[in-house]
Amino acid sequence: MKVETLRWVNNRLEMIDQRILPAAFEYIAYDSAASVADGIRSMVVRGAPAIGVAAAYGVALEALRLSHLNEGKEDFSKGMEAGFAVLAQSRPTAVNLFWALKRMKSVWESLKGQSIALIAERLLTEAHEILAEDIRINRSMGAFGAELLKDGARVLTHCNAGALATAGHGTALGVIRSAVEMGKKISVIADETRPFLQGARLTAWEMVQENIPVTLITDNMAGFMMASGEVDAVVVGTDRVSANGDVANKIGTYMVAVLARRHNIPFYVACPLSTIDMSIASGAEIPIEERSVNEVKGFRGNHWAAEGVSIRNPSFDVTPAELVTALITEKGVVRKPDRDRLAALFK
Ligand code: MRU
Repeated sequence: MKVETLRWVNNRLEMIDQRILPAAFEYIAYDSAASVADGIRSMVVRGAPAIGVAAAYGVALEALRLSHLNEGKEDFSKGMEAGFAVLAQSRPTAVNLFWALKRMKSVWESLKGQSIALIAERLLTEAHEILAEDIRINRSMGAFGAELLKDGARVLTHCNAGALATAGHGTALGVIRSAVEMGKKISVIADETRPFLQGARLTAWEMVQENIPVTLITDNMAGFMMASGEVDAVVVGTDRVSANGDVANKIGTYMVAVLARRHNIPFYVACPLSTIDMSIASGAEIPIEERSVNEVKGFRGNHWAAEGVSIRNPSFDVTPAELVTALITEKGVVRKPDRDRLAALFK
């Protein structure tokens, strides 16, 4: 089954409801910026590139929704600004969200004075292009990254950086898919990824769909697997990389990177250029989302922690650049990422 995480159907955006996978496979339709923002916030759609694509469609949907304001251009502008604002507030860590909004805003600004119908049409075309581009970029990262994996490699991944986290193919799982397409025998070890279980629910599901061998472990088993010689490489995705190469990704990634270094296992990060934030010097400046304590307290209303206990739920952590063997980008592999090597990607 081809996974279309986001699709445009009858002038609406449809997104797979990732909260209910793998128990059920359903699409939810969206028709405004506010509703898309809600879909992002509530994790119907998640994963940095997918969030960016969703936000781009959110802007286009808002323009379509407001097109009845035909001659009242002031109201249209106010409505669009509010749409951009609500989308920007949906989640803080993945920079792809802000990258996509900036790109949509520059299209809008370049069309000021044009008819609302034309603006709406151009914004929709741009959203379609962002989606198509995402898949092309993932394929290109996949081709570069696949070269790094030897035939027979057992690859550990954390969270879900697959087709579900992007417009298609995936970043970290895209590297694995491309290696399999090249004829390499690759098997995957999926960390379950507490507390939201993106690894157990989403990565395992994606791999099972495609008959790529996958073994699910709980997060605290990664060290055992590495010490037992059962992991040849780690490949993860990322939500934001700072100018010096520090990598923010799903909580627990830092722990995996430290373990990988201890066991001399390469730690690769699949990272489209849209995830690199050259405006911040180091990972210390990356905003880390704190999510509801209920995610740690239990799952889907079933609570296992004592009532009244204090709970923390930071959703991302930062892996220092020194622990990153290489970033895999659509422009090639960047070994030992640092400020100069990252800056060179944008020249
Ligand atoms: O909270 P999530 O599920 O949005 O977190 C997703 C991740 O941390 C992914 O690893 C990252 O966005 C890269 S996805 C290609």
